[in-house]
Amino acid sequence: MNGFDKGPILVTGASGGIGGATVRQLCAADAEVIASGRDQGKLDALAADTGCRTLAFDLTSEDSVKGALDGLDLWGVVNCGGFGGEIATPMDTDIAVFDKVIAINTRGALLVTKYASRSMIRLGKGGAIVNVSSQAALVALKSHISYGASKAALDNITRVSALELGRYNIRVNGVHPTVVMTEMSAFYWGRPDIGEPFLAQMPLGRWATEDEIAAPIVFLLSDGASMISGVALPIDGGFTAC
Ligand SMILES: NC(=O)c1ccc[n+]([C@@H]2O[C@H](COP(=O)([O-])OP(=O)(O)OC[C@H]3O[C@@H](n4cnc5c(N)ncnc54)[C@H](OP(=O)(O)O)[C@@H]3O)[C@@H](O)[C@H]2O)c1
Repeated sequence: MNGFDKGPILVTGASGGIGGATVRQLCAADAEVIASGRDQGKLDALAADTGCRTLAFDLTSEDSVKGALDGLDLWGVVNCGGFGGEIATPMDTDIAVFDKVIAINTRGALLVTKYASRSMIRLGKGGAIVNVSSQAALVALKSHISYGASKAALDNITRVSALELGRYNIRVNGVHPTVVMTEMSAFYWGRPDIGEPFLAQMPLGRWATEDEIAAPIVFLLSDGASMISGVALPIDGGFTAC
């Protein structure tokens, strides 16, 4: 019994690598899934494969998020939409890129939480939210000033949301993946001078797969995690523990 019969689960970033894998695993577990992103073509292809519903909206626009989510019945949410932004230090950050990273990764996830949690409270069946953060929120990573800040702020949104929504039996948790070689990460972590020293410091010594990130997300949504709220779960091969 995974508990996925209580209502639809919205997955943002579903047109991307980790979000797409999460939709596939949830559909395989008989969840009713609403896949979101901006690229309707990619969402349609995922729907054809999995039977999920689709709902395109832009995380940077409150009107777009509100228009999509107002009145929509939801039991669960995966805030997976994200943007890698820049490879930059505090000395050379492009503050316009910083603003965009925050607008998508932090503000966008908060907007989804705002409108989705209203629906979840209205339905009165409890619920679960999983925010996809990053190892970059847990430790300082070189050249990750904007992205790390956006995910660290997301972690506080996770904790405060867990505090505020617990009384409605809505659990809120975060996962903190290491690098998955999707489009977002390959241009930087795929460089031998960057990737090799990093993997040498990680106990498991390899990159994660999309399915290895999706599986803990699905677990945190499920009834198996019914007493877990407010956690930050590293999925990082032990990197941040050492
Ligand atoms: N890949 C990694 O190594 C890694 C590691 C740690 C954490 N993460 C996190 O995991 C999540 C998914 O990453 P990924 O690697 O799967 O990325 P990805 O393949 O690049 O996908 C990014 C997703 O975010 C969506 N998105 C971006 N901007 C948006 C906007 N303004 N409005 C709506 N949707 C928007 C994209 O939708 P469209 O393409 O349709 O616009 C796409 O579905 C992100 O939050 C990322 O920060 C990734």
